Amino acid sequence: MYEIGEDLDLAWRLQACVAAEPGSLLDVGVGPMGTGLLWLFPGCPLRVALDSLALLPVATGNPYADGLVRRIRAECRYVIGKSETLSFPDGTFDVVVCNNVLDHVEDVSRSMRELCRVVRRGGVLGLSVDTNSYLGYWLRRIDRRRRPHLNAYRLHPTDLIIGQIERALRGHGFRIVSSNEASRLGRLAGRRRMQSWVAVREG
Ligand SMILES: C[S@@+](CC[C@H](N)C(=O)[O-])C[C@H]1O[C@@H](n2cnc3c(N)ncnc32)[C@H](O)[C@@H]1O
Repeated sequence: MYEIGEDLDLAWRLQACVAAEPGSLLDVGVGPMGTGLLWLFPGCPLRVALDSLALLPVATGNPYADGLVRRIRAECRYVIGKSETLSFPDGTFDVVVCNNVLDHVEDVSRSMRELCRVVRRGGVLGLSVDTNSYLGYWLRRIDRRRRPHLNAYRLHPTDLIIGQIERALRGHGFRIVSSNEASRLGRLAGRRRMQSWVAVREG
């Protein structure tokens, strides 16, 4: 739940792009504390969170934090499931968010298809994920082969390359309205960095 109170790029981008309080919000890969970005739109009447893990007990050791977590949990619905096979009908949600999850999933293409599918037309999808430059991607692939036992690789089964998320969003009929684009040099040879996008469903 570090994201509550932190300067989180995706959160501020979403707040800037989503003018009115949405009627429904889905947070995919919310995390085992069950807070994720569910706090962003406190007046949203339907807030659903999904994760492949069950919720952890509320015992952060900080009574204020525990209170916050309990309040968010009491207001939201939780589903155990996978981003690759979302159990919601097409166009269910006004806003779908997936923060720092896509490099943890087994199948990014299927996850992207599902995330896009459950956003209603005119609705918003907010994503963030660590992304590699072209050079960084290939260096990481080579190192992953050499040292597959590293936690960094086991915890992140997927390597994303610059441009991959943008292509998927456009391919699924989304228009990107906000993102932290890398410079040309950064795209070619920059360090792995957290990128975020807010996109509107047009198709
Ligand atoms: C780095 S945490 C991010 C949690 C939260 N979104 C945040 O930003 O604090 C990644 C989360 O993705 C979940 N996850 C991994 N693969 C998943 C999948 N295929 N479907 C749904 N959740 C998944 C993990 O269980 C974990 O809670």
